[in-house]
Amino acid sequence: MTREELCAAAQAMLPMAYAPYSHFPVGAALECEDGTVYTGCNIENAAYGPSNCAERTAVFKAVSEGRRRFKRIAVAADTDQFCPPCGVCRQVLQEFAPELEVLLVNRRGEIRSLTLPELLPYSFGSANLT
Ligand code: THU
Repeated sequence: MTREELCAAAQAMLPMAYAPYSHFPVGAALECEDGTVYTGCNIENAAYGPSNCAERTAVFKAVSEGRRRFKRIAVAADTDQFCPPCGVCRQVLQEFAPELEVLLVNRRGEIRSLTLPELLPYSFGSANLT
């Protein structure tokens, strides 16, 4: 899959977002090492705290179906600015894919490529527990 296709899969999730409080839809598409793609959207809640970001929706879908090795994630927002993953999502992504490539795509279809080590330097992970 090309990075444009992965970004398109993330953008296709924007209409699925349940974001009645922020009105800020986010879509994600997570590519596994075996080529499988899991998508996600943000899912908000009236109590705010239980809300889930698009990235974590995609990761939790994948892990719950037995995938734990990931290559890339694309994150789409319907804004001119890119939407970088929040701190909680960065930590969740670190658990499974410390070297992950993170593609950000805005509403104009522009793509920015980053790595998780750039987004979460000197991170805490399973190795710190040994
Ligand atoms: N959100 C995501 O889904 N992913 C991000 O990377 C940043 C923020 C969601 C959370 C909330 O539903 C809305 O965007 C506004 O913060």
